[in-house]
Amino acid sequence: MPILEINNLTKIYNGGVKKNEIKALDDFSLKIEEGTIFGLLGQNGAGKTTLIKILLGITFPTKGTFRIFDSNTSLEEAKMKIGYLPENHKFPNFLTGNEVLKYFGMMSGLSGKSLELKISEMLELVDMTKWGKTKVKVYSKGMMQRLGLAQALIHDPQLIFLDEPTDGVDPIGRKEIRNLLILLKEKGKTIFLNSHLLSEVELVTDHIAIMNRGKLIKEGNVLELTKKEEVYNIILDVNLEELFGEHYLTNNSLSKVADRTYTIRVQDSSEFNLLIDKLRASGVTIKEFSQQKNSLEDIFISLVNEAEKGISK
Ligand SMILES: Nc1ncnc2c1ncn2[C@@H]1O[C@H](COP(=O)(O)OP(=O)(O)OP(=O)(O)O)[C@@H](O)[C@H]1O
Ligand SMILES: [Mg+2]
Repeated sequence: MPILEINNLTKIYNGGVKKNEIKALDDFSLKIEEGTIFGLLGQNGAGKTTLIKILLGITFPTKGTFRIFDSNTSLEEAKMKIGYLPENHKFPNFLTGNEVLKYFGMMSGLSGKSLELKISEMLELVDMTKWGKTKVKVYSKGMMQRLGLAQALIHDPQLIFLDEPTDGVDPIGRKEIRNLLILLKEKGKTIFLNSHLLSEVELVTDHIAIMNRGKLIKEGNVLELTKKEEVYNIILDVNLEELFGEHYLTNNSLSKVADRTYTIRVQDSSEFNLLIDKLRASGVTIKEFSQQKNSLEDIFISLVNEAEKGISK
């Protein structure tokens, strides 16, 4: 059973004085399986934060329903098992990192020695131990983000919502956060990630959904979505045309892309295997091969453009 099931959510904001209606979510449905890392992608204003806010009871849907954990779990009970890192979060400037974690830990029902232990464990987890006694007003953006993550995880939640967790974090810090997400998944946690950094999402998520103007436009497994139909890159120890002549390339659907490097287009992988056998039988050494993939960014841009074209028609 999915840990989260969203059914036809619509959210209409009544914007400001002019009362312009904004449809932030439009009949949005989705299921998220337990123990996976899920990535929600969309342009600025697509409705990602609105969706998280509805799921956490911070704002309410105009229409539609959702279920978190099982149908017997109330939203209040569910919240005890949920961790949340809001986008652009701020902590009071006069508190130290330790004090921020103490505050959030206490709100989750922790106290005394177990809270103290949890605070040091969390600071260590996000590599902030040496900053625990420093006031957050001197923290960099990346340090604030790490503390935000520690805050989201302090009560050992089952389901973790992270809204742009690597915002402002440097490349090394981002890699550390990715590793942390993988570690959490290994512990059986479910992670719901909102991010603009598509190359990063691609590295950690199992499943993604792309939304545009409040609507779901695509969802699926990252590997399947980014797989290009049967195009392989292959690096050899020789130049085939020098060895067997130019016709060898055309006869075998090969295109040269660089010195000793080729691509091959095939109907299915068995055809690729036949070529490998043939090359090996001729004594050619295969140094490397890989299946060509679209980047998640390519997929994202083409799907959003397609959706936008549909709207402007
Ligand atoms: N409280 C609000 N009142 C009125 N409109 C709102 C409110 N919150 C969000 N919106 C509007 O709803 C739409 C979706 O906003 P949302 O913050 O959910 O997008 P997002 O996908 O999280 O964007 P970003 O990537 O910039 O964080 C936007 O058009 C936004 O202006
Ligand atoms: Mg947002």
